[in-house]
Amino acid sequence: MLNIIYGSMEAIKDFRLLDKADELLEFKNEFNIPYHDKGNFTYFCGNSLGLQPKSSVSYVQREMEDWAKYGVEAHLKAHNPWVNYHEFLTEKMAEVVGAKPIETVVMNTLSVNLHLMMVSFYRPTRQRRKILIEYSAFPSDRYAVESQIKFHGFDPSDSLIILNPDTGLDTVGFSTIEEVFQKHGEEIALVLIGSVNYYTGQAYPIHKLTKLAHHYGCKIGFDLAHGAGNLLLNLHDDGPDFAVWCSYKYLNSGPGSLSGCFIHERHCYNFEIPRFIGWWAHDKINRFKMSSDLKLMPGAEGWQLSNPPILPMACMLASLELFHKAGMKKLRAKSLQLSGYLISLLIQLNHPKINILTPFSDEERGAQVSIQIRDADKSIYEKLSTHQIISDWREPDVIRVAPVPLYNSFQDVFHFYTILKEILKDYE
Ligand SMILES: Cc1ncc(COP(=O)(O)O)c(C=O)c1O
Repeated sequence: MLNIIYGSMEAIKDFRLLDKADELLEFKNEFNIPYHDKGNFTYFCGNSLGLQPKSSVSYVQREMEDWAKYGVEAHLKAHNPWVNYHEFLTEKMAEVVGAKPIETVVMNTLSVNLHLMMVSFYRPTRQRRKILIEYSAFPSDRYAVESQIKFHGFDPSDSLIILNPDTGLDTVGFSTIEEVFQKHGEEIALVLIGSVNYYTGQAYPIHKLTKLAHHYGCKIGFDLAHGAGNLLLNLHDDGPDFAVWCSYKYLNSGPGSLSGCFIHERHCYNFEIPRFIGWWAHDKINRFKMSSDLKLMPGAEGWQLSNPPILPMACMLASLELFHKAGMKKLRAKSLQLSGYLISLLIQLNHPKINILTPFSDEERGAQVSIQIRDADKSIYEKLSTHQIISDWREPDVIRVAPVPLYNSFQDVFHFYTILKEILKDYE
């Protein structure tokens, strides 16, 4: 692999070499690139909605055919029997997030799972009732934690702590986080952090945060919506109490698709943990005896509510097979190169209109690079769209660009830079 030096002219010249050395380049052919029949569109929105793996159509088709062929009996007779279809996903999903299969399940959607996890792991008392979340947490997470605080009879105005960015910056340094724990550690019941912040692209150190939270006796969970399929995660070893993520971003499983949920092994056999329960949490061997005596399953499966929705799971299976083939280690290595390349090109550009919000160090970023536009001038983003660059604009002033290692090339990144450079000439 070639080393990128930030800001080096060499990096600018080298996209052909980089693509040539990229052993994952052929994975691009596994995906449908939007508007490919209408021009040369370049897609950088895998942090919002991942592209469609071509194979997902046949995976869904197979389930539709089995439904047509067997009706209800497809639960047992389908090529992949539906009754425990989620199990076909478990190992590969666990592999992506560095968890054990017992700790991993695919079920529901992200916000639903976040609530289910808070039911179990946010157990406030008057002395220890606070939730710590990051500044500019995804709004849904903020609504969810505030509603949980209220549900327990407390007031978010004095039970929610926001991890504010360092003075003059948009990101949060670890020493700032330590200070917050020194001050409030004994009052915090739960820490909930997005592993990669959706706005700044800052990646938080899961292991260090978990150690710190546990040192102060707090439970800690992660929203990995922007982390799963993006970072090289090691959830089991890093040890958070829980994590939840969606599968429609980096995991390419289709719009609104299902959520993954991680519950650390140390909680997997504790049947006393309070939880909301549905019939899919009950012992799978005897589930259809329809007994009213509940026998909870160990592990993350013991948090399931409903029987699995087969069609989105078929999409997810198609995608996870690609992740298994490519391997997270290689994907992350390429991703760091892609985003490093983009950052070095932007540094070269050195334009007064743009400011890179995302931290430069490898440990502190995922695939996404957040480019802040001075004076919140959205016209730059609009011009990128006119030039067939699919990126996104996040209010108030950020263009998010996510080169995704499964389907973006170094040429794509260079193309983005060339177009942006041209556009910025109008702003000099
Ligand atoms: C960081 C983050 N958290 C939570 C959500 C909400 O996810 P869902 O609508 O699947 O519940 C999103 C959606 O984009 C997100 O990006």
